[in-house]
Amino acid sequence: MRSSARPSAVALLAAVAATAGVLAGCHSNTPTLANAVTGAEAAARVYVPPGQKDEFYAFFSGGFSGQVSVYGLPSGRLLKVIPVFSQDPQEGWGYDEETKPMLETSFGFVPWDDAHHPELSQTNGVPNGKWLFINGNNTPRIARIDLSQFKTAEILQIPNSAGNHSSPFTTPDGKYVVAGTRFSVPVPNRDTTLASFAQSFKGTLTFVRADEPGKMAIAFQILVPGYDYDLGHAGKGVSDGWFFFTTYNTEQAHTKLEVNASQNDKDYIAAIDYRRAESCVAAGQGTSTMPANYDHNVIDDRSNVAHVERKTSVTALDPSRCDGVMYFLPTPKSPHGVDVDPSGEYIVGNGKLSAVVAVHSFTKMQQAIASKAFDKVVDGIPVLKYESVLAGEVKSAGLGPLHTEFDGKGYAYTSFFISSEIVKWKLGTWEVVDRTPTYYAIGHLMIPGGDSRAPWGKYVIALNKITKDRYLPTGPIMDQSAQLYDISGPKMQLLLDFPTIGEPHYAQALPANLIHSVKFNALTDNANPWAVKTEADGGISRQGKTVHVKMAAIRSHFSPDNLEGITVGDTVFFHVTNIEQDWDIVHGFAVLGNTDAAELILAPGETRTLKWVPRASGVYPFYCTDFCSALHQEMQGYVRVSPAGSTVALSATIGDHAVGGDRMAGMHPTGAAGAVAGGHQ
Ligand code: CUA
Repeated sequence: MRSSARPSAVALLAAVAATAGVLAGCHSNTPTLANAVTGAEAAARVYVPPGQKDEFYAFFSGGFSGQVSVYGLPSGRLLKVIPVFSQDPQEGWGYDEETKPMLETSFGFVPWDDAHHPELSQTNGVPNGKWLFINGNNTPRIARIDLSQFKTAEILQIPNSAGNHSSPFTTPDGKYVVAGTRFSVPVPNRDTTLASFAQSFKGTLTFVRADEPGKMAIAFQILVPGYDYDLGHAGKGVSDGWFFFTTYNTEQAHTKLEVNASQNDKDYIAAIDYRRAESCVAAGQGTSTMPANYDHNVIDDRSNVAHVERKTSVTALDPSRCDGVMYFLPTPKSPHGVDVDPSGEYIVGNGKLSAVVAVHSFTKMQQAIASKAFDKVVDGIPVLKYESVLAGEVKSAGLGPLHTEFDGKGYAYTSFFISSEIVKWKLGTWEVVDRTPTYYAIGHLMIPGGDSRAPWGKYVIALNKITKDRYLPTGPIMDQSAQLYDISGPKMQLLLDFPTIGEPHYAQALPANLIHSVKFNALTDNANPWAVKTEADGGISRQGKTVHVKMAAIRSHFSPDNLEGITVGDTVFFHVTNIEQDWDIVHGFAVLGNTDAAELILAPGETRTLKWVPRASGVYPFYCTDFCSALHQEMQGYVRVSPAGSTVALSATIGDHAVGGDRMAGMHPTGAAGAVAGGHQ
């Protein structure tokens, strides 16, 4: 039994603060003179003149907004919000029939998530500008965003996981992205008493093949002790082929974790030799096929329609039956981030309740494995001796270390949540060389390419959890905040604050010239089954109580724009195609009182479908929601809805003529008024 009389984490932190009291004198919230930069200097360094473009694309997770926001750096200008895990009215994402399947899971339709870690795809350990991956934390998922269109293209659910936090970090070759459970659960999940946590609950470390668009697939899941797997990073350079995950709650508490999961002096960094895992999986050594229910959702490139594929099993690997696949590196104390320096030699554990930042050596780890310098063995997994793997400790650096990134010039930058600062220290000597306050409560920090083999060490961004007094007050729920610091010189210099969308949990950035937007949708390639290629292709048809309307949108009208013959009790699908071929002319579509969806937003050449169930007879206007042209306000039309049982003929017209012909599958024209009609009622 665990005693509730033990000190809380807050008390522990106070103790840490007291023992690190020497710190109090050496960092106040006032920047030192060397860090100060005048307003005019700062403004000049972040100023991007009108008509010019930023140097970096930065991708910020939206945290509990479920989306990704794209900013330009150094200006801090918001360029776009990319809808990922949450329904998004601005683009109709998850509302239109084409994209709704993207939010399907084995739990059903889940139109929200908590998106934490954007991860740029890499080639040879360097971001390549092709894709951005991001995790859904709450209902475990990984999304792939196609950076040729800034569009979510694929979402894979992760089974046997809960709280998909240590995700979706990539291997340097881009072969895998990973997913580690933050919350251990019974595997497979079943009705189990919570008191049996230590016996029945497991963690999973999932390796997902990610190098082919549209084909993310779980290669294997490593079944690990029931701890909380918090963050991860791949090895690189000398440590290429390894993956490192932090753990906390090695106490295996299932209640009151703030006390009960803060008992052990050290938790672990789990080191995985994933090439060894591959060979065990290939040989069937220590593996089993586990039943699992999870969805893989992909948008077809040509039709822009998303499809769901239900998967039913995974390959599980028991590390105790695959020799040499996994080791534990003791790391103080409830470590959060685990970050690997550009050379791959140093593995930095950020113990959030620790007064030191522990840095492990990959070379020493290899030697410790070879000489079997084990403390003990847990569930068949050797625990290496702390001293035998430790490269050094950054002492008295600050309070509450969370994350470390690198500038590629021999320095590391660690965020300290409790003392609200970034601390710069030197790899190899572990000496602190600079510190700067953040406003306030920094979580992640980000240097463009700062977790890669070749960082662009010009700026560091602080991603702050608390805004307080930085902006005009907007009530108790404020946007969170990012801060941009220049790190090109010896001292960090604060240049800019800007508010963010949702929680800017983590971000990644790369030089703008590495991204090659924009993919254009050629109308001739549009394979949506409801697409129209010309205005004359539109029309209306009925299949029982379902009415399909095919419509073209082009400046500045819809064709057809007058619809009759719909009755109460019908379900109407508006299939609207933007038949424009100017690359940036977007149209929208919305209908009065629609309870089933938001608007449609249509890129040129694209078809999207809006579902509408009118509840009462009457006349309903529809209109273009995107200000597309001088006559945008004229881009409107009407639907007449008659009472149930009405005999009003189905018709779709524009001006004085009917639109369409016998183009609906299985439909026949009635001939009446030349309208396209379905006679199957
Ligand atoms: Cu089309 Cu406004």
